[in-house]
Amino acid sequence: MQDNLNPTASPRRTVLTGDRPTGPLHLGHYVGSLKTRLALQETHQQFVLVADTQAMTDNAHDPDKVRRNVLEVALDYLAVGIDPGKTTIAVQSALPALAELTLLYMNFVTVARLERNPTIKEEIQARGFGRDIPAGFLCYPVAQAADITGFKAHVVPVGEDQAPLIEQTNEIVRRINRQVGRDVLPEAQALIPTTGRLPGVDGKAKMSKSQGNSIPLSSSADAIRESVRSMYTDPNHLRASDPGTVEGNMVFTYLDAFDEDRATVERLKAEYRAGGLGDMVVKRRLEEQLQALIAPIRERREQLAREPGYVFDVLRAGTQRAQAVTQGTLDDVRAALGTFSFDAVTR
Ligand code: TRP
Repeated sequence: MQDNLNPTASPRRTVLTGDRPTGPLHLGHYVGSLKTRLALQETHQQFVLVADTQAMTDNAHDPDKVRRNVLEVALDYLAVGIDPGKTTIAVQSALPALAELTLLYMNFVTVARLERNPTIKEEIQARGFGRDIPAGFLCYPVAQAADITGFKAHVVPVGEDQAPLIEQTNEIVRRINRQVGRDVLPEAQALIPTTGRLPGVDGKAKMSKSQGNSIPLSSSADAIRESVRSMYTDPNHLRASDPGTVEGNMVFTYLDAFDEDRATVERLKAEYRAGGLGDMVVKRRLEEQLQALIAPIRERREQLAREPGYVFDVLRAGTQRAQAVTQGTLDDVRAALGTFSFDAVTR
């Protein structure tokens, strides 16, 4: 914010991301985007949205779950090291300007285009909506375009599966900019981690709470031990002396994602392939790494959970700041489009 208020400061690029508050954040979120956010908060003006309105698009039957998880997600952010002095954390449902931008943007996208969105297609399948697709769900890419442009974000760190949503956002941005004859909104760039998506401990493509294959950032030491113990490895690697396969073996996939000692990981892979290295040895190493990563997060989280007043203060301050920014964008877009402005007409 300082950068915008002080015209002599070099303008920092703006980053926006969000998470649906539907359950605890897990290691998949950590490698997929939280880690990037920790780095970006040092160099960028960063906003993070607790996307409770978006969570309602597939959880309207259970608003209670969404409400409860707003605080949980905020706790996860603060526990991993998102610093409210550097990153603005805001609650989406308290930003009415985003809802209004969504309504405006709906007129710059077709239903056919929404139905063709690969992210939406895949998610409709996964959720088993069949033909009963909530209109809010079909339109959530438009709302996400409002999130991104509402903060005039240049960079959006997301997992690969979200890339089509950034493309959809930029299509809306280009249509509006073309119509008004100037760049009232910036295009956004997706920042996708090169490591790819972290699979579940069972080897399934996606780590998710509903699949029961995730390792939450709030996991107890016992839960971490159990998750690693039950991890999917090479089903044909029955004895330690057998040659084993590293590809698709979750213990190695996770070591690739979390173990910074690359040389040792490569040596272990070679030994495993040749035969003579048991699953237990590799699992023990991975467990140590994950325990070391999660223990300080869990401890900070427990400490913060004892001070919910502080967490709510952080959310309140961030949301107020975000209200000002997003209202400013809405004013810009309305002025650029030349829609009716009650204030301007009745002054
Ligand atoms: N769709 C994102 C998810 O499911 C959450 C989200 C909401 C988001 N608004 C956003 C991500 C804006 C990036 C930018 O994880």
